[in-house]
Formats: sequence, structure tokens, C-alpha cells
Amino acid sequence: MTGNILVTGATSGLGLALVHVLKSAGYTPILSGRNAAKTMALAKAAQVPGVVLDVADIAQIPKSCAQIEQDFGPIYGLVNNAGIWLEGEFGHYSAAEIQAVINTNTSGTIHMTHALLPGMVERGEGAIINVVSTGALYCRKMISIYAASKWAIRGFTGCLEVEYAPKGVRVMGFYPGKISSDMYKTAGIERKLDMAMTPEQGARMLLQMLADKTMLWSHVSGRSIRDYQ
Ligand SMILES: NC(=O)c1ccc[n+]([C@@H]2O[C@H](COP(=O)([O-])OP(=O)(O)OC[C@H]3O[C@@H](n4cnc5c(N)ncnc54)[C@H](OP(=O)(O)O)[C@@H]3O)[C@@H](O)[C@H]2O)c1
Repeated sequence: MTGNILVTGATSGLGLALVHVLKSAGYTPILSGRNAAKTMALAKAAQVPGVVLDVADIAQIPKSCAQIEQDFGPIYGLVNNAGIWLEGEFGHYSAAEIQAVINTNTSGTIHMTHALLPGMVERGEGAIINVVSTGALYCRKMISIYAASKWAIRGFTGCLEVEYAPKGVRVMGFYPGKISSDMYKTAGIERKLDMAMTPEQGARMLLQMLADKTMLWSHVSGRSIRDYQ
């Protein structure tokens, strides 16, 4: 396998696991993250290129993506993985919390795609995987904004799938259940995760979606069987 795969939010959890899985499979993963020191240290440790990229800083995205392609060559695959969690009663969220989730999970994904998809179309091949969530497959209380941010991406992904498949670009959605990452802890939420899918398990699914160029994996979901026990 060859090709540059840009992974956003790759400084922990699913994104970091994906970088390692891709490298083992022979790809060139580009590890990107918003924290410069963490990003460059992890990239060095994994022996892959590292780039500082804050997906919530939408104005910078076109310039950053152009620079990445200039430095490393065309991007075959983009994995829009960066995301943040927000949980609680809707009326208690601050405006800043709401904006941060929408900027990161929704606008970040849309603008990263907007920056890199035209090059893929020009080359007649490419893959974009949006890491969505089972939270975009059903509704439940206390996750209104996180769900809104991901439901938007479910619609976005589905529309781009049919728009760009005829041009050779596979736009796909991954809808995992609980993953044993730090996402909830970072958001100040305690969650029991010993039964959850591991980041490595999720990453192996993403590898399969990227690797089989004959398939457009539309709505790939999954959760650990232990999640039901
Ligand atoms: N964990 C779950 O149960 C679960 C379930 C379904 C879907 N997901 C989705 O899976 C994806 C990966 O999450 P995870 O579970 O691996 O959580 P995680 O370990 O918290 O990883 C999230 C990553 O996103 C990065 N990030 C946050 N805001 C960013 C920004 N503005 N620009 C660039 N990077 C940013 C974080 O960087 P910092 O280290 O700088 O914060 C971190 O590296 C997310 O899209 C999440 O919504 C997670």
C-alpha cells in the first residue's frame, strides 16, 4: 500500500492508533494535531511526518492544506477524525461550548474536505473518511450539540458520496459506538470504558475502508460486543 493519508486530531485515541496501523500497512500517514509540541513529538516517535493543524481555525485550513501537499505531495486519503465531546443539558451549555463543538466537529470536517477534495477529483482518485458516531444514528438526551454536530456530517457525507463517487473519490462515514479513548475524560465526563472498542479496533476498520479501493463503505458502524453485556 502506498499513499499519503492525512489524519486530523491524531494526537490521541483513534487518530493516533490509525497513524500506527497505517504505517504498518505501508501507507505514509501524516499525523496532524492542534498542539504543536505534542504533534511533533508523537510524529517523531512514530517516524511519520507531523503537521500542526487546528481544524477549528477555519481561515487557516486552505493555506495549511496547500502547504501540506507542497511539502509531502498529493494526499490520497483524508481522515476527518478530530472531534470533541460535549454532554449535559442543552440549556446549561455556554455559547462558547456550543461554538467549539460545531467549529471542530462540523465546520472543521467540511472545510478540510473543501480544501483537499478538488485535488482528488483532478487526480481521479481519493478517499475521505469522516469519523461520525452512533450519536448521528439515533437521538438521546444530554448530547444535543454533539449529536447536531455529527448529524450534520452524516448528511454532508451522504451527499458527497453520491456527488463524487462518479468522479473516483470515495467519501465515507464511520459511525463507531463507544471507544476507549480520553474523549469523555477531556470533556470532564466520567464514563466506564472497559467494555468499549479499543482505538486500535476502530483504526483497523478505517484501514479496511481506505484499502479496498473497489468499495465505497457508506455507513460503517460497530461497537464492542461487551458493550451489550
Ligand atoms: N470516544 C468515543 O466513544 C467515540 C465514539 C464515536 C465517535 N467518536 C469520534 O471519534 C473521533 C476521535 O475521538 P477519540 O475517541 O479518539 O477522542 P480523543 O482521544 O479525545 O481524540 C480526539 C482528537 O481530536 C483532537 N482535536 C480536538 N480539537 C481539535 C482541533 N480543533 N483541531 C485538531 N485536532 C483537534 C484532539 O487533540 P488534543 O489532544 O489537542 O485535544 C485529539 O487528538 C472524534 O471525532 C469523536 O467524535 C468517538
